Amino acid sequence: MITAGGIDEVRRLIGEAKKAGKTIGFVPTMGALHEGHLSLVRRAKSECDYVAVSVFVNPTQFGEGEDLDKYPRDIEKDSAMLSAEGTDLLFFPTTDDMYPDGFDTWVVPGGPASILEGERRPGHFKGVCTVVLKLFQIVSPDKAFFGQKDAQQFTVLNRMVIDLNLALQMIECPIVREADGLAMSSRNAYLNSKERKAAVIFNQAITRGAEIIKDGNSTRDQVITEISKVLSKEPLARLDYAEIVNAEDFSVIEKPRGVVYILIAGFIGGTRLIDNIKLKIEK
Ligand code: PAF
Repeated sequence: MITAGGIDEVRRLIGEAKKAGKTIGFVPTMGALHEGHLSLVRRAKSECDYVAVSVFVNPTQFGEGEDLDKYPRDIEKDSAMLSAEGTDLLFFPTTDDMYPDGFDTWVVPGGPASILEGERRPGHFKGVCTVVLKLFQIVSPDKAFFGQKDAQQFTVLNRMVIDLNLALQMIECPIVREADGLAMSSRNAYLNSKERKAAVIFNQAITRGAEIIKDGNSTRDQVITEISKVLSKEPLARLDYAEIVNAEDFSVIEKPRGVVYILIAGFIGGTRLIDNIKLKIEK
């Protein structure tokens, strides 16, 4: 694995790989890697000839009072994990590389970015879209791999790729879970052992939601009420939102039909976690 020193070096290495006829797979991350990230790398390796991974804690997607400063960082460990997976290129830019003095051009997403995470975290998706477009411009991948855990992020970025005519394929990869069902997340590292045990309630709540939605007769309100009921059993957990959206465009669905995400966001102590289940309602 080569760790690239800067944007020019990434462009040169990717250029050489393309000249050799290789397809480029790209996994953008903020580091603090876990099995979820590694599953994206493995998928990229299975579908592409050359795999690039970026590690960049993007300051513009964190709001006031969010966890930018304490976000876990361990580039040595990340680098060893990526190398063991056979990653070809690690891009580890500095904030100055990505946002040099005078930087002032932004991608401002509409539609699916306006609700839920977008509403609660103003400017978050503007920061995500801007950095991901910049990374796409630097790496010029044929395929980019993202986790379903951030389903709204995937939908917003997919919209950006379509709207801006980017010549790459977006791939959404399944959520990787701990043995008890908790979705893997770099932010799980914030949980103490009591909180860690309690955090499984988010998955249990949406799993219950999925059970009752499958019959095709339940309304959004009924499913959300049931999810809230399950969550209220865990005193350490606090619900931010539960929602049912169309998987294509993230519009809220009153009578769930077709392919949907059942989404949940909430707090365990001071830690905010999100999770979701994607499923098809046949009826
Ligand atoms: O999902 C993430 O880790 C980040 O939002 C991303 C896509 C790497 C952009 O900073």
